[in-house]
Amino acid sequence: MSQETNTSLDTITSLCKRRGFVFPSSEIYGGFAATYDFGPLGFLLKKNIEIAWRKWNVEMRDDMVEIEGAIFLHPKVWEASGHLSGFADTLVEDLVTHTRYRADHLIEEAGIMENAGALKMEQIDELIEKHKIKSPEGNSLSKAKKFNQLVKTHLGPIEDDSTVAYLKGESCQNIYVDYKSVMDSMRLKLPFGIAQIGKAFRNEITVNRFMFRTREFEQMDIQYFCRPKDADSFYEEWKKNHEQFYTQMMGFDPTHIKWRQHDPDERAFYAKDAWDIQVKFGAIGFQEVEGVHHRGSYDLDQHSKFSGKDLTYFDEKTGERFNPFIVECSGGFNRLFLATLFEFYREEEDRVVLALPPKLAPYKAAVFPLLANKPQLVEKARGIFNDLKMDFRLAWDDRGNIGKRYYSQDEIGTPFCITVDFQSLEDGTVTVRNRDTKEQPRMPISDVKQFIKNSL
Ligand code: GAP
Repeated sequence: MSQETNTSLDTITSLCKRRGFVFPSSEIYGGFAATYDFGPLGFLLKKNIEIAWRKWNVEMRDDMVEIEGAIFLHPKVWEASGHLSGFADTLVEDLVTHTRYRADHLIEEAGIMENAGALKMEQIDELIEKHKIKSPEGNSLSKAKKFNQLVKTHLGPIEDDSTVAYLKGESCQNIYVDYKSVMDSMRLKLPFGIAQIGKAFRNEITVNRFMFRTREFEQMDIQYFCRPKDADSFYEEWKKNHEQFYTQMMGFDPTHIKWRQHDPDERAFYAKDAWDIQVKFGAIGFQEVEGVHHRGSYDLDQHSKFSGKDLTYFDEKTGERFNPFIVECSGGFNRLFLATLFEFYREEEDRVVLALPPKLAPYKAAVFPLLANKPQLVEKARGIFNDLKMDFRLAWDDRGNIGKRYYSQDEIGTPFCITVDFQSLEDGTVTVRNRDTKEQPRMPISDVKQFIKNSL
């Protein structure tokens, strides 16, 4: 099926709400800025994307392990990581309403340049003055100021400086602080990697494009530990490997993936080199989904310095001790989820189809009795449903006519619809309708399970 390349964000947002993929969080209270809940089908799609990511990055390799770290880390972690001092956006304030805005976003929106993230405070002030940039409300703007993005809270019975804690600003920090325990307990030798899917929290000032930029999101991280002399070649290897994750594992069209290198001024404080993997989000165009970063030994050096613990690796071959270098692939789960919906959404003359690869589809198949008021058909269909549900996530539908049921399953990406009709009662066959071709071959009931398994 041809790719729809100009699907609008409104179309995807409406599908998400209508079919139970994603709901605004706390909606009965009017929603809460940029927080979302995954509904029943979104939850299933999310789990399937995570399974695909884990298969590609951990299970199909023998040099990777996975952990799941806590959201709260010792506050010193954020001091050591540099987030307390360096994890800041540059903001300007509307001088009348006192609303704050990301300065780089205002400059980009004014059409002055594409990537304004690397600009220094003085350059921002100059551009705002030169181009007479106003706030979205049309008012004058203040000089640029730094604003830390870490989300702060207090843990414990009193609220003072001694109980300050931060929610994870980047999910991967557990991996650095656990690295030695993971290495020792699993008897790992360089090179090896630690993977983690975990939450991150950022006090983003501009939240936009549905789930694209939110204050709570998930990151899918790989931190690959290696000898310093090998870091450049592993960096190139992981870049290639992660492009293949999108095209080979997720099934994205290769022309929908692009790379963008960060300018030296734009790189995060920890990165020696950084590339973004951008994916096409329909009419919105190419946007960052993942960062591949060459972090050197920055993280282990910092944690060793601040904790006073020796984090060095002893190389038995050379007798040397050193802090390993780290190559990082840090993907945003919420953006990958959204990109997946854009990638596989199709509008045809008579239907909407989510042409998801079967392994990602929330339901692998739907089972229908042709007529809901014929008990023999319902009983036979229930028997098939009960048998298949031991192996696959399935939908059951006996409402309305068969055309409406097909329409409904196409829209949520169910690859196969199995219908029990009168012939089924006679010869033990069912029709298995293919979502993409709309063909409905007959098949013995005993073959259906293997047929679905083969598609995954
Ligand atoms: N550990 C490296 C790191 O955190 P990053 O480039 O800041 O690097 C990695 O984040 C990915 O996390 C991004 O490519 C993006 O997909 C996702 N991400 C970052 N901020 C986000 C936000 N506010 N909302 C949704 N996703 C976000």
